[in-house]
Amino acid sequence: MTDMNPVYMDHNATTPIRPEVAEVIHRYLGSSFGNPNSIHRFGRETRAAVEEAREHAAALIGAADPEEIVFTSGGTESDNWALRGALAAAGGGGHIVTSAIEHPAVLDTCKVLEGSGIQVTYIRPNGKGRVSADAVAAAIRSDTRIVSIMWANNEVGTVQPIEEIGAICRERGVLFHTDAVQGIGKLPIDVDASGVDLLSASGHKFNASKGVGFLYIRSGVHIEPIITGGGQERDLRSGTENVPSIAGLGEACRIAHEAGTAGPEKTRRLRDKLENEICERIPDVVVNGDPEHRLPGTSNLGFLGAEGETLLIRLDLEGFAVSTGSACSSGSAEPSHVLLAMDLPKEAVLGSLRISLGWGNTEEEVSRLMEVLPLAVERVRAMAPRARAATSG
Ligand SMILES: Cc1ncc(COP(=O)(O)O)c(C=O)c1O
Repeated sequence: MTDMNPVYMDHNATTPIRPEVAEVIHRYLGSSFGNPNSIHRFGRETRAAVEEAREHAAALIGAADPEEIVFTSGGTESDNWALRGALAAAGGGGHIVTSAIEHPAVLDTCKVLEGSGIQVTYIRPNGKGRVSADAVAAAIRSDTRIVSIMWANNEVGTVQPIEEIGAICRERGVLFHTDAVQGIGKLPIDVDASGVDLLSASGHKFNASKGVGFLYIRSGVHIEPIITGGGQERDLRSGTENVPSIAGLGEACRIAHEAGTAGPEKTRRLRDKLENEICERIPDVVVNGDPEHRLPGTSNLGFLGAEGETLLIRLDLEGFAVSTGSACSSGSAEPSHVLLAMDLPKEAVLGSLRISLGWGNTEEEVSRLMEVLPLAVERVRAMAPRARAATSG
């Protein structure tokens, strides 16, 4: 085990909280503790914080009206709500168009809905993880209630043709939801330009805290609430607001909006440097995903003849945190549903490793990784002759 500080390169799983965000969170964990629904000064103070966060979130995604932002407990709830709420508003029954590479928050929800008679079309992506807008157009039926296609994939980072899909949905009069959990704070997002009606976001993927997010609901779009109770969030999402986390999320949105493309560009350069070095110095490596349409920090690599899981453990011992597949649904040793849907060769699937860079990563860390990775891959390959033999046919 290394004595050096561990290096975090798993930003698609979660991100460290920025100090500015932590400071805001602390404020609302301390003396500013009022219930934002109270009329007195304690309540007014936290209400102001929640509304300010709403404004920052709206500004980040180009929403015309802050009231289009409804705070939730994160990406999973937002995805569930978009799908279930849209179906309920349409009076039940009907058809959903989605893709085979969505996060389980969408996929598993669709599976449950199928059990209650909803029909679902799962569009398969191409070999780079991209869903074709034409395939979406072809899948839409007269009873399609909603199209749900993620902005960017969490495992391979492929960015989807959201504007094209948005235009198709508009033309066909179908609601368009996008899970933008991995895109927010990394890519420019404009709900109007992209024709999105519903958009899911999660705080912990862009340097805010876990257990908070939002659903953007375009003005005029009606979805039914799935959490009922005290009528908070304009009767759309009940439950006393998680003020510290919401305020922190607002601060993260403000920072991301102000930084624009500068932060992501730095991450992209670092990722490209790392990926180029890996491909130059390590034989038999394939890049999974779409090099032309990809999240700036994501590198999903197939180390042919190695087992990704073993490589991950070896790197962890060396002090580097990376991932195989998606850590958000982890615990399972199942091959990634995303890589399988992309129809990649088995060897690329078994040997896949996701390195996701983000705020805080440095060139020095990339150099340190390159000091250990070539040997780690060599050793893991030597340990896994069976993986090679089993997949070389
Ligand atoms: C694309 C995507 N959607 C949804 C989620 C779930 O978000 P949360 O962890 O906030 O529930 C994640 C991450 O876990 C994700 O990567």
